[in-house]
Amino acid sequence: MATIQFRDPSPFLVRKQGGAPAPPPGDYVHTRYLEAMRLSPAPPKMEEIGVALCGCGRAGTIHMVNLVKNPRVRLLYVVEDAEERWPAIRAFWQLGDDTRLLRSKDLSTVLADARVQALVVATPTRSHEAIVTEALRARKAVFCEKPIASDLEGTRRCYRLAREVGRPLLCAFNRRFDPSFSQVRREVREGKVGHVHMIKTTSRDSPMPSLEYLETSGGIFCDCAVHDIDMVLWVLGELPRRVATIARSNIPEIDGIGDWDTVAITLDFPSGSVGFIDLSRRSNYGYDQRLEVFGPRGMVSCGNEHPTPGVRITTPDRVATSAPIWYSYPSRFAQGYARELEHFLDAVQGKTKLSVTSRQTEAVVKIAAALTNAARTGQAVDLEWGPEEQLLEEE
Ligand SMILES: NC(=O)c1ccc[n+]([C@@H]2O[C@H](COP(=O)([O-])OP(=O)(O)OC[C@H]3O[C@@H](n4cnc5c(N)ncnc54)[C@H](O)[C@@H]3O)[C@@H](O)[C@H]2O)c1
Repeated sequence: MATIQFRDPSPFLVRKQGGAPAPPPGDYVHTRYLEAMRLSPAPPKMEEIGVALCGCGRAGTIHMVNLVKNPRVRLLYVVEDAEERWPAIRAFWQLGDDTRLLRSKDLSTVLADARVQALVVATPTRSHEAIVTEALRARKAVFCEKPIASDLEGTRRCYRLAREVGRPLLCAFNRRFDPSFSQVRREVREGKVGHVHMIKTTSRDSPMPSLEYLETSGGIFCDCAVHDIDMVLWVLGELPRRVATIARSNIPEIDGIGDWDTVAITLDFPSGSVGFIDLSRRSNYGYDQRLEVFGPRGMVSCGNEHPTPGVRITTPDRVATSAPIWYSYPSRFAQGYARELEHFLDAVQGKTKLSVTSRQTEAVVKIAAALTNAARTGQAVDLEWGPEEQLLEEE
């Protein structure tokens, strides 16, 4: 009886009177479902985009998943040097006769095909700059896995060319397109924490990449930390004046190739914000991805996501969730990879400007290179930024 005073009017009555609450916009899946239910807003006429996918390995497979089911995409070519895998690729993805498989030595055939408007590049890092350059010269739009080139000069050359030919070049920083990470940035930009005092990312890889991959990856700072550096800069919109790191190799084989597997990074920003990045090449409990932003008005953070968060197992000795966190990046960032492709396709069709800008990407590469030096020398690195390097958030 004590709570009878709180009894609400019938929800049916409330609905009849038009007072029913709207579905929360935060449920982006439901929002899309409602649009589909109402058949509104009708999407603009879907123009097909001819696409070539270069590289069908770990990253290429993630993009293949999204390319083959995308109604806007006509996958015309798969450029993959492992020719022995072609029959299986064709069969698994049910590629029709209008999708050709070629080796990279035949890239000119792809680039000469006027139907191809865009390339998705997911080949090993060392090949990126050459493919990006050839593709841009042929006036194709390019979606390129990080990093776009092996160094800052190469990255700048690629973006200069993209500007000259007027075609979009997207560096695939997929975490930006993750709904949780994007919301953290939005809340911070709306002032929820006030002026940021501390921003922290945790990024522990799973599964650990192969040694063959690590040998040509460019090192943990250029291959792995770039995602975190980009996240910190993207949230803060500021360039650090000093960066430092402690980098160790606890795995002998990683030590053997002159790389590091355990890294702490600090970034000192002129406004007073402090950045901290915690990196590991191997996490045995899954792909550990966290972001936390702290300031005088509060904290905004996003933790790990679980495949089946609703399931809990209760036994006399413990209460546990049935599944650990997502095992790998294709699972954890599935939404983000799909959304980054959509963003690129929109840019190809002139519907949006790229949100990952050349200045941002170049700044990330410059910081990653400085940190590689810092790890080798054990010294912090002061960074100078010219007017042409100041961050732009759209281009
Ligand atoms: N954003 C992410 O989450 C993410 C994750 C993994 C890898 N990557 C990036 O993706 C790129 C590829 O990495 P990966 O792990 O997929 O490597 P991978 O070795 O698994 O795959 C590369 C594929 O490209 C093929 N290949 C090699 N040279 C080629 C060429 N010149 N043309 C066409 N195909 C060629 C190989 O046969 C292989 O199938 C790297 O630059 C890496 O940094 C990004």
